[in-house]
Amino acid sequence: MLQVDLTGKVIVVTGGGTGLGKAMAKTFAACGAQVAICGRRQAIIEATAQELGPAVHAYPCDVREWESVSAFLERVVNDLGKIDAVVNNAAGNFLAASETLSPRAFRAVVDIVLTGTFHVSRWAGAYWIEHRRPGHILNIVTTYTDTGCAFVLPSAAAKAGVQALTLSLAYEWAPYHIRVNAIAPGPFPTEGAWSRLMPNANFEEMYKNRLPTKRYGCPEELGALAAFLLSDLAPYLTGAVIPIDGAERLQGAMFNYLAQVADRETLKAAFAALKEATRGST
Ligand code: COA
Repeated sequence: MLQVDLTGKVIVVTGGGTGLGKAMAKTFAACGAQVAICGRRQAIIEATAQELGPAVHAYPCDVREWESVSAFLERVVNDLGKIDAVVNNAAGNFLAASETLSPRAFRAVVDIVLTGTFHVSRWAGAYWIEHRRPGHILNIVTTYTDTGCAFVLPSAAAKAGVQALTLSLAYEWAPYHIRVNAIAPGPFPTEGAWSRLMPNANFEEMYKNRLPTKRYGCPEELGALAAFLLSDLAPYLTGAVIPIDGAERLQGAMFNYLAQVADRETLKAAFAALKEATRGST
């Protein structure tokens, strides 16, 4: 059986102390990697490293600051010998009516998501090019990077920028054997995300009911996809943005609303009646 093996790889996960970053760090370690997680809150990343075991190493870092990112990644190379992959996962998001957004609020999210991703990618790319090593940048975006999204404007704008960065670097750095991909998760209700993005239980019920799979994604499913992408099983896979959302993003397609009818026999009967009514007409 084909297995994802990350033995010997050193993988950096920004925002790895909580949520999906933590889940990915756990999967990477289980597949044999050494994992360097970073975050702004030292106590949280240290507790996560403690919990996930000796293959996971905690470093304080604020991805918004170039000096902080440089110092962090230099320490990882000193401590663990090299870096094979970086996962730009650190993010910030909240619900707000856009006409109420303060410039600082907009900047807070864009600085973490877009500028932070640039900082880490810029440092890692130059390191791999200088040392003639292959590398991999994996960016976590969202399913609304192409459509934009109401009430999360800073996140939508910043993640669209990260998607553009992904595609730009994939082409530019392909000759250096640096792969650049993105995963676009749909609804994965981590504590950090849902506490900011789900107003209350009624909205959650409404949200869940319109999911075509009627369920959310599990962090382990995202971890498995990320581990596969970072492994040696996917050397030709670069410049891809891969959604993992149970098809949630497709609900706007013109006739997909019909799938909301739970009883498919009723639907088929309606289609049959339509066929009968239009038979013979031009
Ligand atoms: N709605 C509207 N504005 C908000 C907000 C919210 N829920 N939360 C913060 N802001 C505004 C603040 O009011 C402030 O603007 P102001 O000074 O003009 O009032 C600005 O954003 C910066 O907030 P601050 O808390 O000082 O910045 P921070 O860098 O510590 O926080 C955030 C960054 C806002 C992104 C914060 O939510 C965060 O750190 N999140 C990280 C985790 C996360 O979001 N996880 C979910 C990922 S899906």
